[in-house]
Amino acid sequence: MVSLPDIERALHRLYIAAPGASLRREERKKTLELAGMMKEIDRIVSAAREKRPWRMIDAAAGKAYVGLLAAELVLARKGRAGRLVLIERDGARAAACRRAAACVHAPRVDISVRQSDVADASAWPSEPDLVVALHACGPASDEVIRQSVACRARRLLLVPCCTSKQVAAAQIADRWMEDLGLPRHAEIRRRFVQAVVDGERTLVLEAAGYETVVLPFVPPTVTPHNLLWRARRVGEPRRMAEAAKKLARLRGAGEASHV
Ligand SMILES: C[S@@+](CC[C@H](N)C(=O)[O-])C[C@H]1O[C@@H](n2cnc3c(N)ncnc32)[C@H](O)[C@@H]1O
Repeated sequence: MVSLPDIERALHRLYIAAPGASLRREERKKTLELAGMMKEIDRIVSAAREKRPWRMIDAAAGKAYVGLLAAELVLARKGRAGRLVLIERDGARAAACRRAAACVHAPRVDISVRQSDVADASAWPSEPDLVVALHACGPASDEVIRQSVACRARRLLLVPCCTSKQVAAAQIADRWMEDLGLPRHAEIRRRFVQAVVDGERTLVLEAAGYETVVLPFVPPTVTPHNLLWRARRVGEPRRMAEAAKKLARLRGAGEASHV
């Protein structure tokens, strides 16, 4: 079990370290999100029967709070060896990952940073045990899903972030709204678009053989982007076929009168 003080201490040592400095408000909020993610990761690692080195990817990693804390507070504490790959496209953040990785107390976990877009398949090692992506913004969440499926990840923990117009399912929702005659008030539109985007992501995972649960991992007061996609590859053909049919219907609904 990973406690809040464990997380605060690790964040301080890995990312702040200056004597007398303390976590900022933003980082204290992050602590609660990280506690939610550590609980999920701890549960998954504890349940894993095979004891071979654990292979994990932190995608759209930012400063890699999730991946690095999981290496130290979950894997190292359980005496597990492993390989952690951090994928982040921004150069300054990738550099921050490397600095923090050098201070992680997880001697049996090999950590590498790949400065890359998550859409680049060559950045993704094959068959990881777990992919984590906390607050993958806009279309990055869809890419994380696509690449997790493509590299045959066993499990995925995804928390999407903002939904921009670049998200393909948001464009479907926009067209669909017109067909349904829904008013375009911002709050109505936002909720409708988000439901379509969330539903489409779930169906993509299920059609690819992932049993998927969508649940809040922290209260909405911590972050409005508080939904976690917990997905596990099971490859059940009937469920996959059903999901594929629903996905085609959902995507078609936004196309029907606009072709
Ligand atoms: C909101 S931050 C979240 C960072 C981290 N996961 C966290 O929760 O602290 C999103 C990060 O994803 C990165 N990112 C966004 N789109 C990306 C892409 N297509 N490929 C790689 N990284 C991306 C951004 O540079 C940013 O660091």
